[in-house]
This record gives sequence, structure tokens and C-alpha cells, in this order.
Amino acid sequence: MAYRLLFVCLGNICRSPSAENIMNHLLNERGLADQVECDSAGTSGYHVGAAPDRRMNAAAQRKLGLTLKGRSRQFESYDFDEFDLILAMDRDNFEQICMIDRLGKSRHKVKLMCDFCTQHDLKEVPDPYYGGDAGFNFVIDLLMDACNGLIDHLIAESIIVAAK
Ligand code: 4NP
Repeated sequence: MAYRLLFVCLGNICRSPSAENIMNHLLNERGLADQVECDSAGTSGYHVGAAPDRRMNAAAQRKLGLTLKGRSRQFESYDFDEFDLILAMDRDNFEQICMIDRLGKSRHKVKLMCDFCTQHDLKEVPDPYYGGDAGFNFVIDLLMDACNGLIDHLIAESIIVAAK
């Protein structure tokens, strides 16, 4: 059975759909797509049903040639049962997710995305929503680092097996 990853931000229109699409792109490139399934969600319901933000999509196109797929949905408590690992983009998302897990039963499944970065020191993926192009470009760079680091971690922990 595939290992299931859920990427979570506030609106599920900028950072987490980028993480989901970049992860799928890297898994395909590395021949690992059949071993991992990805989804994303937002802690808020502000943008439910919306496509990824146009500026975020433009950055993904510009830097990686990727078209971001997906529609915004809100994180739900049953996601704790559906996913093996839940990656919060920032500390606020992390706290919100942990608040929904009232008994702390799934606390071990929740991690900060930047914990998997190897090239950057940041602890959070900055929210690009109210900024300019540079912020969106930076999100892509940071997520490339974190996603590659996460794949390496899954291989190192024998959760998935490196393609030959
Ligand atoms: P995201 O970005 O959490 O990376 O999807 C945001 C999207 C929308 C808002 C804030 C951040 N908002 O305030 O509507």
C-alpha cells in the first residue's frame, strides 16, 4: 500500500498545493510515484473549491514548468486516519492541526515541512499571499529542498525503496 502524505497550509491555494505538486513531480522523476500518494488541505475554509493561486501557479511554471493541479479543501479530523504523515507549512498551521487532534493520538504524524530541508535554515515556509513575486519564487525553492529531503528521509527510514 502506498505511503500517504498530506501537505497543509492556511488557504490550500499557495504553499500546500505547491508542495503536493512538486512532490508528485519529484516522485515521478525518481521513479517512486507508485509508492507515495499526496494530497493537500488548508486549516481554513476561506478558499474551499478554489484552484491554486494564479501567482503561485506562475512561479511554479516559471521555475519548474509545472501546472499546479487541485482544488482547495479544508483539513478534517478524519485526515488523521487517512494519512501517514501530515506536513504543516508553518507553526501556526502546526498548532491548528494539533488542536483538532484533541487527545494527541496522531501528534506523531504531524511535522513541520522545513524539518526536511537540507539547503535552507528556515523553520517555516513563509506565507507569500500578501507579498510580491519574489515570495512566490522563494516558496518554490524552499519546497524543492524540503520535498527532496523528505523523499531521502523516506528512503533512509525504509518507508519507501529507491528505484534502481
Ligand atoms: P496559503 O496562502 O496558506 O499558502 O494557501 C494563503 C492563502 C490565502 C490567505 C492567506 C494565505 N488568505 O488570507 O486568504
